[in-house]
Amino acid sequence: MSVFLGIDIGTSGTKTLAIDARGTILASAMETYPCYFPKPLWSEQDPEDWWQATIRSVGRTMAKARLRPGDVKAIGLSGQMHGSVFLDRNDKVIRRAILWNDQRTAAECAEIEQRVGGRANLIKLVANPALTGFTAPKILWLRNHEPRNFQKTKKILLPKDEIRRRLTGEYATEVSDASGMLLLDVAHRCWSKKLLSALELDVDLLGRCYESEEITGRLTPQAASLLGLTTDCVVVGGAGDCAAGAVGNGIVARGVLSTSIGTSGVMFVHSDDVKIDPRGRVHTFCHAVHGRWHMMGVNLCAGGSLQWFRNELCKADVAAAKRAKREVYELLLEEARTAPVGSDGLFFLPYLSGERTPHADPDARGCFVGLTVAHTRAHLLRAILEGVTYSMRDSLEIFESLGVPIREIRASGGGSRGPLWRQIQADVFGRKVVTTGSEEGPAYGVALLAAVGAGAFKNVEEACAAAIRVVQQTAVDRTAKKYYDRAFPIYQQLYQSLRGDFKSIAAMEK
Ligand code: XUL
Repeated sequence: MSVFLGIDIGTSGTKTLAIDARGTILASAMETYPCYFPKPLWSEQDPEDWWQATIRSVGRTMAKARLRPGDVKAIGLSGQMHGSVFLDRNDKVIRRAILWNDQRTAAECAEIEQRVGGRANLIKLVANPALTGFTAPKILWLRNHEPRNFQKTKKILLPKDEIRRRLTGEYATEVSDASGMLLLDVAHRCWSKKLLSALELDVDLLGRCYESEEITGRLTPQAASLLGLTTDCVVVGGAGDCAAGAVGNGIVARGVLSTSIGTSGVMFVHSDDVKIDPRGRVHTFCHAVHGRWHMMGVNLCAGGSLQWFRNELCKADVAAAKRAKREVYELLLEEARTAPVGSDGLFFLPYLSGERTPHADPDARGCFVGLTVAHTRAHLLRAILEGVTYSMRDSLEIFESLGVPIREIRASGGGSRGPLWRQIQADVFGRKVVTTGSEEGPAYGVALLAAVGAGAFKNVEEACAAAIRVVQQTAVDRTAKKYYDRAFPIYQQLYQSLRGDFKSIAAMEK
């Protein structure tokens, strides 16, 4: 039997998923871990937690699907992008990894632009502007603020690539995730020597860069024994979670866009060639499809906004859901459904972790605007769903303004699960929204990449065509669309009105 594993090192946990050679899912398992917020807007995790979760989730998946060690022919790795794992010369992790949603690097972003003679030059080198969440500013932060740790650093790896190192002993990455380091010449799919030299960073700090379906190594005897697999099992490049999720959702051709709501909210569109937003509002990265690219807008706190609301304001509901053996989010979405379209004039700005697209602004804050005594908790919940969806429409409009064709929208992640959020997406985007049978996200995408790498499919496009089907469609409700078309410019204006106040609040906190 030929089985392929996808392992996704996410922010809330690690998920392992097994598929057969036709792309059918055999089993999956998730293991969670904490995120640390040592200061406001800082966000860190311990790579050891990822590794332990990998071992446990692989073990549980193997047991659930009753697999034998030799069944697993290849592994694909996916993970939260941009995070930095700093290793010393003995491969010891020097400090906790700094994550994608950490906002401490505003000064380093300015430093990077200044070192290359401005933002336009930087975009020419690496297709993107310096954003606080990206990896290069984190490296400079370490050099500026923890020089002793920087001196000890011999390798810098992305989260999934640290797991690759523990699996295979190789220092390697692949083009989709490497694009988010801000050190890759995205147009030519290789490290940017020019930028590295302007930043005075040695290319040896980085791993070797592969295409996503290429084989990067085999399991070491130690990893094979910990995971219950064999040393014949290969590990392919894989992909950053956005590109991996897109593969898992079949976003591998022109005209197809996906919306994916996890902690972050990602709008992802395939592109056959390199298209760059000269204003740097959306990202241009290499796709996990060999020789292709994609554009992407990222909202840092999409599902994260709902998660915050649940954690802080719904403790009793969490307990009640547990007793009733229901998902607490299901209950909260049912409650949100009782509020009308537009939440009776209540707006929510989802900038709880600062923001990236379209406002690269680490100082932006979350807010409810327009509260009255008539508003209920249901309104607050619905306003969160609407605010997050407006923030994603911002990206959609930018893609269209750059001439990227959008024929079909595929929803995935938490935002695709209940009918309410699917409907809000169709109405706010003003387009039919479809979902595919694959609900499994990035882990599924990289399991398919592993199958491609091991030769079960000719290429990623063929794997997606064989394995992914549209199963559900949500049509636009014309009345709701009309309302949202009027409300969206108000939503957009709120950030502009509050931007100065966000800066003043941030200055007080510093
Ligand atoms: C993408 C991004 C997030 C993380 C979260 O640019 O920052 O989607 O990858 O998993």
